[in-house]
Amino acid sequence: MSDSSRNNHVSTDCAHAGEEQLESISTPSVMPIYQTSVFNFPDLDAVDDASSGRRPGFIYGRYGLPNHIALETIIAKLERAEGAIAVASGMGAIVAALWTMLTSGDELVIANDCYGGTLSMAARDFSRLGIASRFVPVTDLSAIDAAFSSKTKVLLVETISNPLWNAIDVGAVAELCHRRGVKLLVDNTVATPYLICPLTLGADAVVHSATKYLGGHHDVTAGLLVGDKEFVSQAREVLIRTGAFLAPFDAWMTVRGIKTFALRMERICSNAIQIARFLESYPRIGRVYYPGLESHAQNAIVRRTMKGLGGGMMSFEIQGEGNASEAVDAFLSRLKMIRLAPSFGGVTTTLSHPAKTSHRSLTPEQRNDAGISDTLLRLSVGIEEPEDILEEFRRALTF
Ligand SMILES: Cc1ncc(COP(=O)(O)O)c(C=O)c1O
Repeated sequence: MSDSSRNNHVSTDCAHAGEEQLESISTPSVMPIYQTSVFNFPDLDAVDDASSGRRPGFIYGRYGLPNHIALETIIAKLERAEGAIAVASGMGAIVAALWTMLTSGDELVIANDCYGGTLSMAARDFSRLGIASRFVPVTDLSAIDAAFSSKTKVLLVETISNPLWNAIDVGAVAELCHRRGVKLLVDNTVATPYLICPLTLGADAVVHSATKYLGGHHDVTAGLLVGDKEFVSQAREVLIRTGAFLAPFDAWMTVRGIKTFALRMERICSNAIQIARFLESYPRIGRVYYPGLESHAQNAIVRRTMKGLGGGMMSFEIQGEGNASEAVDAFLSRLKMIRLAPSFGGVTTTLSHPAKTSHRSLTPEQRNDAGISDTLLRLSVGIEEPEDILEEFRRALTF
């Protein structure tokens, strides 16, 4: 309040600093960051109106801020959904979705090649709440069918999974789920709505780690939850009570990232197929896993349901003449532009080593069963000039 009638006391003036309402005939081109945790009301009727939803009004940070609405509106458009919720992280979104869909005594069936954090959350945290999980190879529809019991309420899958990039047939999986009275929750972080919109193929809800392609610059951690009006309103209540709140600056950063999402994905997909083809025919490289390649087991699904685009992620085996892990070290030590980073989806090309990062908690036998060797490297393709990425590979593979 800028009140000139008030006595000038330093403590009072400081406490009310920055409260002036500025007059302006112009409006900001970009939504400002609403760095406030609470809103002021003119009177108690206004508090009642905003709280009951009779009139639009923001109340308190955890209940939702304008920067959340901006992010929720764009992801709902991209995923062809009725609504969305901005959450503090991808894991926050997955937990909120499952918490909304499941109750004690229910069972969760989950793809055994989901992100490691998702698998351990199901095995360690949901099991403590009396929600048992079964883990299935999700490319095998009969294995999913066999894993469902009368208690199964949700199947959780990723559209393209890490690190061998298995793509699933969302329509066929949704059809199976609905025949058995099970809801389908899809993590669309890797494929993104640039490749596929799972809700249009029958999924019941979608989650994202917006930390990856949607944010797109390795500078924000955020999650999103997407679905129909009823699901979003139930999940919002769960989130308000449980509090996985996304900071307004991070919501703003994610919206800023999304402005170039389509451009980045176009370039990333085009770079990725060129790199995958190059690696496939390069002598020092063993198997290449990229769903956009004709040699990948799910390439037909990608052509049918993902516009033929394989996305930006691939994995490959390094081959050496002597000790295989020495070959990996030799390759990594010769890289100049591509950095080792255990995340993905940014504008720069990055590498990671699944056995030492995302799949570190598995035993060597479990890794072996999952097809993850110590010489497997995971590549997140960026937007650089493709020839520069290829040149980096040629140089680093000369050892
Ligand atoms: C497919 C997938 N889903 C969810 C997550 C979790 O996201 P966050 O790190 O934003 O919590 C990750 C993280 O790597 C992921 O790869």
